[in-house]
Amino acid sequence: MVIKARTWLVAAAAVMASTAVAYSSEMAPQDVKIEDNMVSASLTGGAGDAAEGRKIFANRKLGNCLACHAVSDQSEQLFHGDVGPSLDGVADRWSPEELRAIVVNSKAVFTKDTIMPGFYSLDVGVHVRKDLVGKTILTAQQVEDVVAYLATLKE
Ligand code: HEC
Repeated sequence: MVIKARTWLVAAAAVMASTAVAYSSEMAPQDVKIEDNMVSASLTGGAGDAAEGRKIFANRKLGNCLACHAVSDQSEQLFHGDVGPSLDGVADRWSPEELRAIVVNSKAVFTKDTIMPGFYSLDVGVHVRKDLVGKTILTAQQVEDVVAYLATLKE
């Protein structure tokens, strides 16, 4: 009887652990803490998809990172902006936790005057289109995908 109860407990614990993963909720933008220029934990609790991140990076309606940043890895794209630095080798300059902080809210890492948008921040200034109030440019998953992609950009 004792043994049976223990077996049940172990099974119950396993079920609870898997539910915790399945329900792992994403972190709301206002709950993300940037400390020492880092966001240490994944916003989704899971790893990003670098291949998806590569697409989001170039997508004019999502990251639109290419509008300001050149990157040799995407040489098939016609237009690369030069407002920001080239992101070749960016993973040698910043850790994944720092890259996450830059994408989440560049203003917290650089200066509040940077023209780079904060992609997972509600702190986007006062003149925000009404339909965009309370929304972030990227979802938590898209941020993780972009960070996973940036982490592949090594010299
Ligand atoms: C409107 C222009 C603009 C857009 C769009 C933009 N950035 Fe930036 N980014 C900048 C500028 C400018 C800097 C340099 C920091 C500063 O002084 O403001 C920068 C810096 C960075 C850095 C640090 C680079 C280094 O070498 O130190 C990373 C990483 C970065 N951006 C990633 C991204 C990603 C990823 C996206 C898209 C999700 C993006 N940026 C979109 C303008 C932009």
